[in-house]
Amino acid sequence: MPSASPAAPDTVLVVDFGAQYAQLIARRVREARVYSEIVPSTMPVEEMLARNPAAIILSGGPSSVYEEGAPTVDRALFEAGVPVFGMCYGFQLMATSLGGVVDNTGAREYGRTSLTVSRPGSTLFEGTPSEQAVWMSHGDACSAAPEGFTVTASTDVVPVAAFENDEKKLYGVQYHPEVMHSTYGQQVLEHFLYRGAGLQPTWTTGNVIEEQVEAIRAQVGTKRAICGLSGGVDSAVAAALVQKAIGSQLTCVYVDHGLMRKDETAQVEKDFVAATGVQLKVVDAEERFLNALAGVSDPEEKRKIIGREFIRVFEQAQAEIIAEAPDDQPVEFLVQGTLYPDVVESGGGTGTANIKSHHNVGGLPEDLEFKLVEPLRKLFKDEVRMVGAELGLPDEIVHRQPFPGPGLGIRIVGEVTKERLDLLREADAIAREELTAAGLDREIWQCPVVLLADVRSVGVQGDGRTYGHPIVLRPVSSEDAMTADWSRLPYDVLARISTRITNEVKDVNRVVLDVTSKPPGTIEWE
Ligand code: XMP
Repeated sequence: MPSASPAAPDTVLVVDFGAQYAQLIARRVREARVYSEIVPSTMPVEEMLARNPAAIILSGGPSSVYEEGAPTVDRALFEAGVPVFGMCYGFQLMATSLGGVVDNTGAREYGRTSLTVSRPGSTLFEGTPSEQAVWMSHGDACSAAPEGFTVTASTDVVPVAAFENDEKKLYGVQYHPEVMHSTYGQQVLEHFLYRGAGLQPTWTTGNVIEEQVEAIRAQVGTKRAICGLSGGVDSAVAAALVQKAIGSQLTCVYVDHGLMRKDETAQVEKDFVAATGVQLKVVDAEERFLNALAGVSDPEEKRKIIGREFIRVFEQAQAEIIAEAPDDQPVEFLVQGTLYPDVVESGGGTGTANIKSHHNVGGLPEDLEFKLVEPLRKLFKDEVRMVGAELGLPDEIVHRQPFPGPGLGIRIVGEVTKERLDLLREADAIAREELTAAGLDREIWQCPVVLLADVRSVGVQGDGRTYGHPIVLRPVSSEDAMTADWSRLPYDVLARISTRITNEVKDVNRVVLDVTSKPPGTIEWE
């Protein structure tokens, strides 16, 4: 498994102390063009050092260093000569391990704070202002740095908000440089990487392509592989990479369940194939899915049916491909677009095969006897998009909004019928067209368009009163779909979408805007 092998040269290990800070830090390190990987804080220090890391970052976490059972770190980590950067909880651990003082003062500091830099020319802070906004989230506070460290910044509440030891290459900040609200956070992180740890910004997604093509060839040999395409970014990029590596030994399967958005099936059938030359088997299963969904309104039930039918159709297609394969090239591999966050969330990349479970429609049976090819296992979403662009995939696919496997089936509240799907497809196409025309595609994470098929509301259209369905717009901004905020779209764009939908889509006489963040509201309505 990739995660069990020694880390590549110039890898920064991000030690995860919980609460999802580590993923963001790892992404920021890669934005600085240095490769990073996340390891759990329970990993023994010898094991971390055995991976020969170029530097180590200790993340923040929800605990207090004084709590019983709070995660700790072996002092040996700081004595190995590897540059270390502690952030928030990681900073406090570094302080206490090396003889500094962290007080349980009860002086809590949350949110945006002003940081005063007392050594403007220091390794971390050079070229940044002496007063800068930073994001804090802590209860304990460091009042004395360990011996040999220079205090380089403070806040009103915390006397030691940053310390540095150039000789030992140990650095720490009390705040979260990885979050956007820390205005110079990225610069401070880069100062640690380039100045503190002496790393070069050389990692690119271009190297990833070369490396993966080699690895896939070595893994698959002369055998054959299958890949299910959902139309989404992940499976498209995974397939394109594998295609580049093994060409016609790969066959892709696309199940058209009739729940796709307007033009998406054509994008896969024509544009994706044209861009990659991939062999594609398309199964038109619209009727089968619609028959299975007839009369069903319960969202969980709908999901189950779509998942079940998907697996049946996919298995049938797979059996046909296996039957057609020559004896000396059996189909042994299944390509999956598993991303790094899936790997981390399913146990920090400890090597278990991870088939996306909750979001598993694109979703495959669990008892598959395939070996998995997962060329995106080490990448974050934005990196996957970069790889896709470099592989020459069409923009519409590379920058596609996340779209749920069960498709429009879970964006119709009520029974799913062909007529309702067609209506929703039109409304959705209008919203997407207007958002694109307004240049807002990269501003929003996704904008589900939902048909409230079980609701009717009175309207007045033309000469008479109508009794039609409302359409909900759910534009959200998000970094990873775990949390989201509703997007503040310009009123004129919303007005154009609303006018066009009510004019152009039959049976819709009302457009409403969802202004709920997640939590409490999920992104999809179901
Ligand atoms: P929720 O609605 O849980 O959605 O806030 C979070 C993200 O996941 C997507 N989503 C799915 N993706 N299969 C998928 O591949 C699914 O069954 C599924 N359900 C939700 C959703 O669009 C959002 O990006």
